[in-house]
Amino acid sequence: MNLLTQIKQRFAPALAGLASDVPALLDMIRPAQDAKFGDFQANFAMPLAKQLGRSPRDVAAEVLTKLQIDDLCESPEIAGPGFINLRLRTEVLAERLSRIAFDDRLGVPATEAPRNVVVDFSSPNVAKPMHVGHLRSTVIGDSIVKTLRFAGHRVTSDNHIGDWGTQFGMIIYGYRHFRDESSWRASAVGELARLYKLVNQLSDYHAAKALLPALEKNLLESRQKLQEIQQQPQDDRTKKLVSGMKKALAAAEVELQSAQDKLAKVEGSPALLAAAAAHPEIARRAREETAKLHAGDPENTALWTQFMPVCLAALQQIYSRLNIHFDLTLGESHFNPLLAGVVDSLQQQGLATVSEGAMCVFLEGNAAPFIVRKTDGAYTYATTDLATIQYRRDTLQADEVLYVVDSRQSEHFQQLFATARRWGCEQMSLRHVSFGTVMGSDGRPYKTRAGDTVGLESLLDEAILRARRIVDENDDRREQPLLTAEERSRVAEIVGLGAVKYADLHHSRDSDYVFDYDKMLATTGDTATYMQYAYARVCGIFRRMQISRQSLQGQPVAIELATPEERRLALQLLMFGYALDSVLSDYRPHLLTQWLFETANAFSQFFDRCSVQNAETESLQRSRLVLCDLMARAIRTGLGLLGIDVAEVL
Ligand code: ARG
Repeated sequence: MNLLTQIKQRFAPALAGLASDVPALLDMIRPAQDAKFGDFQANFAMPLAKQLGRSPRDVAAEVLTKLQIDDLCESPEIAGPGFINLRLRTEVLAERLSRIAFDDRLGVPATEAPRNVVVDFSSPNVAKPMHVGHLRSTVIGDSIVKTLRFAGHRVTSDNHIGDWGTQFGMIIYGYRHFRDESSWRASAVGELARLYKLVNQLSDYHAAKALLPALEKNLLESRQKLQEIQQQPQDDRTKKLVSGMKKALAAAEVELQSAQDKLAKVEGSPALLAAAAAHPEIARRAREETAKLHAGDPENTALWTQFMPVCLAALQQIYSRLNIHFDLTLGESHFNPLLAGVVDSLQQQGLATVSEGAMCVFLEGNAAPFIVRKTDGAYTYATTDLATIQYRRDTLQADEVLYVVDSRQSEHFQQLFATARRWGCEQMSLRHVSFGTVMGSDGRPYKTRAGDTVGLESLLDEAILRARRIVDENDDRREQPLLTAEERSRVAEIVGLGAVKYADLHHSRDSDYVFDYDKMLATTGDTATYMQYAYARVCGIFRRMQISRQSLQGQPVAIELATPEERRLALQLLMFGYALDSVLSDYRPHLLTQWLFETANAFSQFFDRCSVQNAETESLQRSRLVLCDLMARAIRTGLGLLGIDVAEVL
């Protein structure tokens, strides 16, 4: 049993006579924020004292008289307004650690209550290349899958690709009118990406052109209004108006700028301009192609069937590089045949009604209805998601479904879950695991210098290239380089991919973060590279001492915690299970990166202070070797749950 759980169990009887909600109070026993307060801290005395109308120190003292914990902890201390500080007995730590020293699971037992969990993640819209925006869902989702599996749950990783959307109308139109036969033969993926971009650009051009006069007028009027208000006497009301107008003005400027950019891109190229002139109705025609596809038109269906393997192969290439695997890739098209049934069922149960020609679910507290069939008869993203939920419930027998999707879709999921619950999915836990945006250093969503979205492929290439420089420098600095060119490439891949993944995962997922190659590849600080170094350092110790790590196993271990640094590292290693529980309680992988960072820091201090090679006794040396090996495996396992690999030499 993990240490914290055990401590809580000791507190339970001591609290029983005093409080009604003991579990809530036990929840306030946590790892100490600062080692000078001990290892754990119980913070329940203040709220409990309030309930009882007594002084917190008094209440804390009473709990301590009833607490039996001497075999685990030094005598507890009351600090400040009534915090109880707990310090584990060092021999308890040593004994615990000895027990898990060679355990692959680092002493973390599998759950006794496994759930069927479906994790819907990555889920890009296919037929356009994956870009930086797809990174977060892919990386966060994969880490959640791995952590849930480690904890013993039955997990289905499900890539709910968008393979039925309007982008197909665009590439079908593009393929018919703009295809370059030799490019298609050379690289179908590349040609599809080009066609998608072209049709998109031309549609945007016409839309921007049509919109431009209105945008200009809007801007002009906003400016005039602002001037008028500014000329009036400035009181609270007008000040408020001015600040509102300024915001509106800024938004109007951005909109106009974006339209002008779209025009400029096409106008800058005679070929594009000619294409635009020859295809004035391109957006409408592309939409018609999508509608025909959805209606089962044989030609468009044949094209879709021809394009899909190409799109999937392109995705697979990225997933293989990232070493990410999906159990299912059903996609939106898979659910298409079920959509009419979904709408019928919603209607029969009185959940959906026709409003202004559209089939809608009206939900309490929502101004906008949840539309499941549009006026033109088309089904929506919502309808597909409802069909998918039904499948996950009935066929996959899911107890829980996680949707690892951008926070901008939170309203969709809130409406989806509310509808699903009323529709008979109330037993299933449905959760939107949302996340923020990847930003550039300019504080806007990350783009290339030319203003295009950053392709995922090129982003990974760049990270690996930079990692290669680090690996080269390191190895060249050695008297005797340890790596062949091939090994250097392999290690650079591990370091580069690790850096990108870790940089994403170590931010709390709700926040946006700034993409920065230098920061993510820094060899010190909260980066994968730093953890990978710690791992390689341990491998180095064993290499230099010419001891194999495997050879440690099989002999009895007695961990000795002779210094504060060894003690701290030991405690840290024993907290792995706690870190995993925290991750899974709200699906926050950054709580695992925090643990990894603290572990690598504890190791670094241990490494500076405690010599392995020159340990005073043979048994201490052996204890330190075991500690090193365990820490290396902890780093490897922890990084592994983030989808990040390690290398013996860096
Ligand atoms: N394909 C969607 C997009 O790119 C994300 C799908 C997320 N999953 C879902 N079941 N809705 O925005």
